[in-house]
Amino acid sequence: MSLYGTSKINASGHLEIGGIDTVDLVNQYGTPLYVLDEQEIRNRMRQYINAFAAHGLPFQVAYASKALSTSALYLIVEEEKLSLDVVSGGELYTAINAGFPANRIHFHGNNKQYEEIELAIETGIGAFVIDNLYEIDLINEIAGAKNKRVQALLRITPSVEVNTHEYISTGKKDSKFGFNLLEPALVATKKILESETIELLGYHFHIGSQLMEMSGYQIAIERATALYKAVSDEYRINLPVINTGGGLGIRYTKGDDPITIKGYVNEIVAACKENFAAHNLPLPAIWIEPGRSIIGEAGTTLYRIGSIKELPGVKKYIAIDGGMMDNPRPALYQAVYEAGIANRMIASDKERELVTVAGRACESSDILIKDIELNSPMTGDILAVFATGAYNYSMASNYNRIPRPAVVLVREGHSDIIVERENYQDLVAKDRIPERLRKLRKG
Ligand code: LLP
Repeated sequence: MSLYGTSKINASGHLEIGGIDTVDLVNQYGTPLYVLDEQEIRNRMRQYINAFAAHGLPFQVAYASKALSTSALYLIVEEEKLSLDVVSGGELYTAINAGFPANRIHFHGNNKQYEEIELAIETGIGAFVIDNLYEIDLINEIAGAKNKRVQALLRITPSVEVNTHEYISTGKKDSKFGFNLLEPALVATKKILESETIELLGYHFHIGSQLMEMSGYQIAIERATALYKAVSDEYRINLPVINTGGGLGIRYTKGDDPITIKGYVNEIVAACKENFAAHNLPLPAIWIEPGRSIIGEAGTTLYRIGSIKELPGVKKYIAIDGGMMDNPRPALYQAVYEAGIANRMIASDKERELVTVAGRACESSDILIKDIELNSPMTGDILAVFATGAYNYSMASNYNRIPRPAVVLVREGHSDIIVERENYQDLVAKDRIPERLRKLRKG
């Protein structure tokens, strides 16, 4: 096990994050608890900005907020001068409501709803990332009626097979997203260029997530550039933006060895430079949209260990007070996590035990971590699961009617709740009982 961001083991042998003892956090806020290391978040955002700034080229780094969307986080994104990628009216509303500047918002999605497009146009977002022909018609209709013009990128599917879980690989030919190359993308391009309401900025692709190598990007950039060339030849225009999506992987376990943010940006810039130069085209502004690599390693989830079940000679299960409802990734993608006992981070070799961490959902697939060595876990201990910042809270559910945990932001010895823990009233807040059933209840 190795630590992340500002995490360290303090003099009491406890896990400390952002200068706060996690045992104190649990005493104050309860469990399960999502803890976010603000300094680590900002540090990663700055690494992206600095890596691009060093090239002296026009760029935008848009935080892909599907990884974790909360009002406070959006304000950190704003302060660090990143743009924002949203994929729904809900994410868009959260950003606008928090005061995020609309003109730095990019709106994605393969089936944007009429009302969502209306909201995006009314608030004046920076760019749509158009996914299909139907969306072009919708935007034309809505923007036309409002007498507004919008800027857009067109999403393409460069048919790259990448080495990640099938469910999070998105750039291959058989994908629900975007336009295949070259003809379908050119048909859509023509339709946009003929539109009076949409200004085409360029093309976007996203080839997958949790990627550990750059070869997919190199192929995708090469294929995308051929499209810029075709458009330049046919229409005599050089589109001013290329967006290479997100996808940089993170370290979930000690075996993971992701590319550095700087190395990642440098390779994208180099591949763009090389390919546009080869076609004799001017280099467009480079936009990217990382999610996981900004927020993933900055998150830790704290749980309380409850029941322990020992099957002699077979296995020892330790059960926590959360599970697939706050982290569905192991059940969905066979994702692997590392963890430690937050109140006993140091132990001798013989105190370490091989156990399986079970969630509390009524479902046998709710196993959070299969076979992990922990420091003699006991009922009442606090289990810290690492690198849970991305796609945990944002994918959390109320399965089994379990309230969602709080999210706390820690920094330099301070902690602030940025999402309140749900309570039972929240769970029934939207329930309605029809009169006829009410009568029955009254007898
Ligand atoms: N841009 C687009 C268009 C995307 O679809 C995604 C992620 C991103 C950017 C950000 O990718 P990232 O930098 O976070 O890899 N729920 C899955 C991940 C789904 C990713 C969906 N798209 C998981 O938990 O692994």
